[in-house]
Amino acid sequence: MRVGVLLFCTFLTLFASPSAYNEGKKLYFSKGCNGCHGVSAGGTNIYPALAFRRKAFLVYKLTRLRAKQGDTQLSQMMIPFAMGLSDKQIDALTTFLSDYHEHTKEHYTPDNSMTGGGSS
Ligand code: HEC
Repeated sequence: MRVGVLLFCTFLTLFASPSAYNEGKKLYFSKGCNGCHGVSAGGTNIYPALAFRRKAFLVYKLTRLRAKQGDTQLSQMMIPFAMGLSDKQIDALTTFLSDYHEHTKEHYTPDNSMTGGGSS
């Protein structure tokens, strides 16, 4: 009996999280999160990085934003995207983001071409 429960738990940890991860990855792109937070979730410009952040923090933020509770003025643009998310989708998205292990060479590099380089 005990062994059965143990095996079941092992099964869950081995197989449940990769599917949540993949589900989150799909959602990240289908919901357009990449448009602001970047294809590698590394953040762009004024948009915060999401990859490798603590899952508890991401869940906390998304749940609050879904309830239209933003902490900054910028969050007003994030709220419409959080509002449509179910608990399950938040769980999948945050699993994907906190556990991020995509092999991508795309990194955001700030475009400094308009600044600096000038001699006075
Ligand atoms: C229109 C641009 C935009 C889109 C699209 C968008 N976000 Fe955001 N997101 C923001 C901005 C701006 C903030 C910062 C809000 C703040 O400062 O409170 C933010 C904050 C967050 C945060 C909290 C991170 C932090 O450091 O405070 C999470 C988590 C998040 N977004 C997840 C998502 C997810 C998941 C999606 C797709 C469902 C998404 N975002 C789509 C603009 C966007």
